[in-house]
Amino acid sequence: MKRISTGVEGLDKMLNGGLIPGRAYLIKGGPGAGKTTLAMQFLMEGTKKGEKCLYITFEEPISTLKEDMSKFGFDLDHPNIKLVDATPVGEKKTIFADVLYEEFATSFEKLTRAISEELNAENYSRIVIDPLTMIRLTIIDELEYRRTFMAFLKTISKYKATIILTSELRDSDIEEYLVSGVIELRSIEERGKTLRGIKITKFRGSTFDEEIRPYKITDKGIEVYHQEVLFHGV
Ligand SMILES: Nc1ncnc2c1ncn2[C@@H]1O[C@H](COP(=O)(O)OP(=O)(O)OP(=O)(O)O)[C@@H](O)[C@H]1O
Ligand SMILES: [Mg+2]
Repeated sequence: MKRISTGVEGLDKMLNGGLIPGRAYLIKGGPGAGKTTLAMQFLMEGTKKGEKCLYITFEEPISTLKEDMSKFGFDLDHPNIKLVDATPVGEKKTIFADVLYEEFATSFEKLTRAISEELNAENYSRIVIDPLTMIRLTIIDELEYRRTFMAFLKTISKYKATIILTSELRDSDIEEYLVSGVIELRSIEERGKTLRGIKITKFRGSTFDEEIRPYKITDKGIEVYHQEVLFHGV
């Protein structure tokens, strides 16, 4: 089966070669865990291969995002990457064609429609929504959210793009049941030291490394040590 690289070698090894293309995955983690970095690394891998990539930010404005990501050597001005600022403080009011932020970010249906319009116009193979939390908060009713999220996945899946969604660790787990895979970035305190561990909790259609493995954020981005263990002597 064809696999798509996450841009992180050690993580690809944990995934038995990479993600299965055309599906949606969730990256969960606490603040500063590296969700944005990992998602961006996935897109950078795509741009290197000449693929078109779409990144939608709901929290971090594009100006600071570019600044932060440039420290890892990620070129967000690459012609193959489209950045969409859907933050409340975003300078651009118009996001996609004729959809305004105010409407777009307040309704998941409008987000879905806007993305599919974008996909009709351009052949994106990688998409990131970072984080999902903001759009999730627009739907209070759980059943309604589940339906909307499923409709979103169904609509997007027609386009064969591989999608990464990020979310906070605390968020309840509706999405986890509906996406094809879940990758968690965990942080564990041990005798005053913070250990960072990456764990795949779900990967439909594939076997995977079920162990929690150490990862680091370096000046090149996320590095996963797939042959190491997080806890010694356990
Ligand atoms: N060169 C570096 N070496 C080590 N750590 C770094 C380096 N550059 C940035 N960092 C750390 O990497 C993290 C970047 O995290 P990133 O923005 O990807 O996290 P996030 O999970 O998206 O956070 P948030 O929840 O705030 O969106 C920050 O905690 C930052 O301190
Ligand atoms: Mg982030």
